[in-house]
Amino acid sequence: MVSAHADAAQVLVASNRGPVSYAVGEDGELTAKRGGGGLVSGLSAIGDEANALWVCSALGDGDREAVRRGVGEPGVRMLDIDAETHAAAYNGIANSVLWFVHHMLYQTPLEPEFGPEFREQWAAYERYNQAFARALAESAAPGAAVLVQDYHLTLVPGMLRELRDDLRIGHFSHTPWAPADYFRMLPDDVAEQILRGMLGADRLGFLTGRWADAFTDCCVRLVGGTTGTRVGVHGLGADADFLRERSRRDDVEERLATLREQIGPDRKVIVRVDRTELSKNIVRGLRAYELLLEERPEWRERVVHVAFAYPSRQDLAVYRDYTAEVSRVAERINERFGTAGWTPVVLHVKDDFARSLAAYRLADVALVNPIRDGMNLVAKEVPVVSDEGCALVLSREAGAYEELCEDAIGVNPYDTVGTARALHQALSLPSGERAERSKRLAAAATALPPARWFLDQLTALGEGRA
Ligand code: F6P
Repeated sequence: MVSAHADAAQVLVASNRGPVSYAVGEDGELTAKRGGGGLVSGLSAIGDEANALWVCSALGDGDREAVRRGVGEPGVRMLDIDAETHAAAYNGIANSVLWFVHHMLYQTPLEPEFGPEFREQWAAYERYNQAFARALAESAAPGAAVLVQDYHLTLVPGMLRELRDDLRIGHFSHTPWAPADYFRMLPDDVAEQILRGMLGADRLGFLTGRWADAFTDCCVRLVGGTTGTRVGVHGLGADADFLRERSRRDDVEERLATLREQIGPDRKVIVRVDRTELSKNIVRGLRAYELLLEERPEWRERVVHVAFAYPSRQDLAVYRDYTAEVSRVAERINERFGTAGWTPVVLHVKDDFARSLAAYRLADVALVNPIRDGMNLVAKEVPVVSDEGCALVLSREAGAYEELCEDAIGVNPYDTVGTARALHQALSLPSGERAERSKRLAAAATALPPARWFLDQLTALGEGRA
């Protein structure tokens, strides 16, 4: 057993990506940037906990340099795990295997072979998880609560339990969970290790009942059940106060003016904002828009698709190829339908949060069509921010659909003809009905703000333990 020493932290969070990242400037100075994504939004409430520690990984040269120089935010401990181990665990296992399994992204010719390379990467994934378990065991005060996050760290609860039996350990999955028949694609021993690793926690959290049930089914079929571990559901909502205040600032106003110029007067706006991620289904989304322009010529010159596809996981060839494909399809649509005064697709690929908020404000329609998604916060954010109220075209495979299905227009993400029809329906909604729906969507979307999500998990972790 590792003894409890170091800080007397009562709440610890562990995640691959932390709340800040660092870059080294040309002058050698380090600059810090707040991280993005659903996980960071949800966990930002930890900042309100006086006695808290966030354990995360150093992800790039800037982060590693910050660790070396001893630079850091209070309440954040960055682990400098060797770069090779991290790359194999993060790119190899977490993003190329586990992400693909839970989002059901494998298809010919992308079917995996779990051969010797996979086994080497799996060993790195074990080392990576072990490094987190040790750091948590060292840093946690007696009886502290530890909230482990996501598919990068599935083995941590079991490993940590071995080191520190006094801790209350929770694990939260921000992704969907694969159906048992799909999950069993993983080698048997690996599948079992993941489930047993997670079952080392006192409590496991998922974003929807659908993902929690899939996990439980995997446990029943592969390891005989979830004995001793409670499974709960915590939906994550948008942060209304933050979004409303942030989207009124000057930098957003500036971008609003630029976007308005790019769009032109009296045109409807269809907005999408995503990481360039295969599960987000951006190419089929563009294809559906192309079909709309093809089948419904009345929309030509009268609508613009503002599509922001921000770089993600560019170390992986499959993501780089996908990024190139998104640009190709957008260009094709512009070449095919564009005119001197009208650009049908305004595509931006450089991450800019203020510009995303400006696009949200302009949205008449939000298009969110993932193949599968744990929750999808964009679907929840746009109705909160849009100036005139927006219609939401939403994949029924996004976790958010369970909460928003009454007022969203649901689509099958593979069905581009159906998605084109849904876009037409959304664009054609009378403005009064659109505003009403948007109001109800915003209310449902903000029912569980991030702080509540975080605190509910903590409370639930504390319950039911002797
Ligand atoms: O749950 C998925 C998640 O961890 C989200 O929090 C976030 O949006 C995304 O993946 C970030 O991925 P990455 O850390 O690989 O950029």
